Amino acid sequence: MAEQFQVTETPSEVDTEPTSPFLRACRGLPAERTPVWLLRQAGRYMPEYRALRAQHSMLEVIRTPELAAQVTLMPVDAFGVDAAIVFSDILPPLVGMGLELDFVKGDGPKIGNPIASPRDVDLLGTPPAEETMSGTLGAIMLVRRELESRDVPVIGFAGAPFTLASYAIEGGTSKDFSKTKAFMLSEPAAWKRLLTKLATVQADYLLAQARAGAQALQVFDSWAGRALGREDYLRYVAPVNRDLYAAVARAGVPVINFSLGVNAYLVEAAACGGDVIGLDWQLPLDEAWAQLGHERPVQGNLDPASLLAPWRELRARVDDVLQRAAGRPGHVFNVGHGLVPQTPVDNVRRLVERVQERTSR
Ligand code: CP3
Repeated sequence: MAEQFQVTETPSEVDTEPTSPFLRACRGLPAERTPVWLLRQAGRYMPEYRALRAQHSMLEVIRTPELAAQVTLMPVDAFGVDAAIVFSDILPPLVGMGLELDFVKGDGPKIGNPIASPRDVDLLGTPPAEETMSGTLGAIMLVRRELESRDVPVIGFAGAPFTLASYAIEGGTSKDFSKTKAFMLSEPAAWKRLLTKLATVQADYLLAQARAGAQALQVFDSWAGRALGREDYLRYVAPVNRDLYAAVARAGVPVINFSLGVNAYLVEAAACGGDVIGLDWQLPLDEAWAQLGHERPVQGNLDPASLLAPWRELRARVDDVLQRAAGRPGHVFNVGHGLVPQTPVDNVRRLVERVQERTSR
């Protein structure tokens, strides 16, 4: 199967100007409308997704290219979003490194053998993504083939080192990251080796996704900003994030740096790298964008809880984000974190319609 991953020569994509609103916005170019897609756009709020998950486990869906591709396309077909994010998760790449992963119903992801000592770090492997993540790479190829004629780009993604380390050490989702921070502060050398290994594996995986056909890449750093103050972020996280973004820049496709909760050090987090900065909902979009400088494209900002509100309230909040973006090129409409399972499907449909109608030029 390996030779199939060579279908796309990434350098040729850099040379030609993209036509899709999403890829144009990622490069700061004017577009026919403001593109819109949503974090967790394929998920449990969709009845089609729940029906498929009743038949297959989460890992089975992720590892079967046809199933993952089918889920990836669900929100594109249902709502006409302007980009497709491949259906997977940030945690499966940990399995190839030697960690045991399971998604437990109602309880989120669990690691069966969490890291507890420097020796555990040294036992982690760094195998190539083509060997360990062939299901997701295959799904990207299938989705790309399906969406090429519709000019809807495919986004690949990976987790950032701190966020992955937190799952590897805590064994699951954490509220206070106490084990992670205890390890970071007690074993700084092993911490550095752990983050470096994670960055190596994610960089290789992101580059493989671009070779498989991903036209943009998003790095999710969901928890570093929630866990760490600025000085610890700069000391324990930023150097390895910089290395990761530098390595991934070679993919030749736009890279989105989504770092949740970093508003106390937004500029420093953005300085780690990435072409587009993903914004959560803590700062109004215009303030965050002014801090970053308007030449840097931005994505996100709508509080995902807005989709739990009645349409009148949701509409006002959508319009507010659009107004703050002021029609500038380089704005990708999105939520500031993933849609929750209780999200009404109708609100997703109306949101996408609203953004596309209001911004068509
Ligand atoms: O549509 C998409 O956005 C693509 C798919 C996607 C998933 N996870 C599917 C998923 C993406 C991009 C992710 C990223 C991810 N996964 C992150 C970073 C983004 C963020 O939300 O901060 C993180 C931290 C994870 C880890 C993870 N996976 C958690 C905490 C959970 C449990 C919480 C929950 O929502 O259930 C998962 C499981 C998961 N990943 C589901 C989905 C659709 C639910 C699985 C199910 O069907 O039961």
